Amino acid sequence: MGYCCYNPSPASFHLLVTNFSQQSKSLKLPHQKRWPDGSRTASKVYAYHGLRTPPYKLDALEPYMSQRTLEVHWGAHHRNYVDGLNKQLEKNEILYGYTLDELVKVTYNNGNPLPEFDNAAQVWNHDFFWESMQPGGGDMPVLGVLEQIEKDFGSFTNFREKFTEAALTLFGSGWVWLVVKRKEKQLQIIKTSNAVTPLVWDDIPIISLDMWEHAYYRDYRNDRAKYVNVFMNNLVSWNMAMARMARAESFVNLGQPKVPIA
Ligand SMILES: [Fe+2]
Repeated sequence: MGYCCYNPSPASFHLLVTNFSQQSKSLKLPHQKRWPDGSRTASKVYAYHGLRTPPYKLDALEPYMSQRTLEVHWGAHHRNYVDGLNKQLEKNEILYGYTLDELVKVTYNNGNPLPEFDNAAQVWNHDFFWESMQPGGGDMPVLGVLEQIEKDFGSFTNFREKFTEAALTLFGSGWVWLVVKRKEKQLQIIKTSNAVTPLVWDDIPIISLDMWEHAYYRDYRNDRAKYVNVFMNNLVSWNMAMARMARAESFVNLGQPKVPIA
């Protein structure tokens, strides 16, 4: 049986604690000082990032992605990225107070990543990946997502071939993404190595596929083609893609302008 719950929040969980006088009993935080009246307060602002649960139970993607894979991938790997990031943030007060999105961009540091980047990006990437899948997923997108894919890739079949090819030619560990490119005003497939995420280039991700071995080896061994095929046939959430496209279109005009300019 799975042991997670539904988390409806689309934004990354971000706990910003500015006043410890009430919370000091439940939170163990360093560098607290005592005011003359005896109450405790903080001399700094602390921000901690939490482990978000996938939006379904851990057995909900069976038989395509096993509960055991989710338990290890989410419960151990993803958790380690979160714990590692929080440990790093304890030692670097300059990075306190950023949202996770901001932290990823700031620590990427224009291609000269700070030590915190890998953990921050992997937390963001995994939050995004869990929501890129759903029970009963797969098949084909509909409406605007399908229209945009047909416009930018010629056909859904062509898109699927290109996405699969990108996944199978990715060397080592990394990610495959369907993104909206802001400047080109179109969908593109890109692949990134290790923790790198298209967020750092200001692309708007629509779908991602984790191509680290920990994502597929327990269920598919080294058969990456089968894993990608199952993702496309049975796991990818075109519902979430539709919601993300709607949000993307509030930033990028993917069609002809509909509002006349005087
Ligand atoms: Fe992963």
